[in-house]
Amino acid sequence: MSDFPRFPAGFVFGAATASYQIEGAAAEDGRGPSIWDTYSHTPGRTANGDTGDVACDHYHRYPEDVALLRELGVDSYRFSIAWPRIVPDGSGTVNAKGLDFYDRLVDELLAAGIEPAATLYHWDLPQALEDRGGWRVRETAERFAEYTAVAAERLGDRVPRWITLNEPWCSAFLGYSVGRHAPGAREGRGALAAAHHLLVGHGLAVRELRAAGVREVGITLNLDRNLPASGSDADRAAVLRADTQHNLVWTEPLLAGRYPASEEETWGELITGQDFRRDGDLELIGQPLDFLGINYYRPIVVADAPYREADPARRVATDNRYAEVRLEGVRHTAMNWPVVPETFTDLLVDLKERYGDALPPVHITENGSAEADEVGADGAVHDAERVAYLRDHLTALRAAMDAGVDVRGYYVWSLLDNFEWALGYDKRFGIVRVDYATQRRTPKDSYRWYRAMIAAQRG
Ligand code: FCB
Repeated sequence: MSDFPRFPAGFVFGAATASYQIEGAAAEDGRGPSIWDTYSHTPGRTANGDTGDVACDHYHRYPEDVALLRELGVDSYRFSIAWPRIVPDGSGTVNAKGLDFYDRLVDELLAAGIEPAATLYHWDLPQALEDRGGWRVRETAERFAEYTAVAAERLGDRVPRWITLNEPWCSAFLGYSVGRHAPGAREGRGALAAAHHLLVGHGLAVRELRAAGVREVGITLNLDRNLPASGSDADRAAVLRADTQHNLVWTEPLLAGRYPASEEETWGELITGQDFRRDGDLELIGQPLDFLGINYYRPIVVADAPYREADPARRVATDNRYAEVRLEGVRHTAMNWPVVPETFTDLLVDLKERYGDALPPVHITENGSAEADEVGADGAVHDAERVAYLRDHLTALRAAMDAGVDVRGYYVWSLLDNFEWALGYDKRFGIVRVDYATQRRTPKDSYRWYRAMIAAQRG
């Protein structure tokens, strides 16, 4: 077992999930509809027409899932709170039964010796707010702050680590520009307004969490390692546009108190003509954080795209700002994502170089892989590729720490196979298999490997 990467004492090992992907009970105990209910129930939007109506039935089976976490030996569990369970209409009446569910979950975790880490927004916006403009409008950020205050008041005494938003890039660009996530819009300016209002919502939520006195506040970004397809000037320029749209749009306001210098060359008049920014927004967005959450899965190889010819109204879409090119010569996961662990090291080291002391301590809040798992004749899942993925990415993470990046924790995505958004139940990311017909949970080899790795740190 000596090939386990070694981490410093106190390093946090965890596992992550998200509300809509696992909970089910979509219409129970007063939960209101979210944009993901609407989207997944719209024909043609998700693989096989899959929805999160039942998912892993975690809403009812959480004691069994917490027992799996305890047996795994993790220090912390990252889950998300479903806003539409707490404020079903997006504003106004608070649903006590929704709060009660997270109360029970948190107490179950604490009784198992596991520190809860709560994400406030993992994409399940109350549909009522989308009907009023969604993240395109500033009001949604204000409602988000109100919901945050309610959640923090109830759970802040027992949940030490809070994450405002999960991957706002997906909410803004996949949701309002590419249209592959709820609410499925294909707009240019709407996506940029959404990106800004998500950041404003983050800033307002930070204030509420500070007022509630919680221990740690952060945000989770899916930062990308964008590599040029060639050495050509055109491809390098495309990498800058991709970096702007994926990374700098978040990290510059959050960590450097400014909007990206490259925003005009990336978005043209869509950004110069904007009217959604207000004085004081940068101060709000750039409040100090206790940690930065980073989700990392794969590098992206970027080439120039003929965006100048594209429909100007939709120019911001990733499919016409730049093109993504397949990386040859490496293994690809079931998501068709290339596996190149050293790009994880490079991403973190570059981030530290760019932001220096302004970079707060980092938690890796997601990392893992979807594989074409099969149940063997012995009833087990021998997911050797996932084990290799986890081992190699943890080793790459350790290398970034050796190079001076202050990383405090790592959460594997995911505890359970679950509803993988538009890809439905086809893609399995769990270290525990879920048989959706019976809801039976079966720990995979990767679960046992992660458990042994964690145990090796301690003993
Ligand atoms: C991330 C999401 C998470 C899951 C993984 C595979 O983008 O945050 O919910 O879908 O990807």
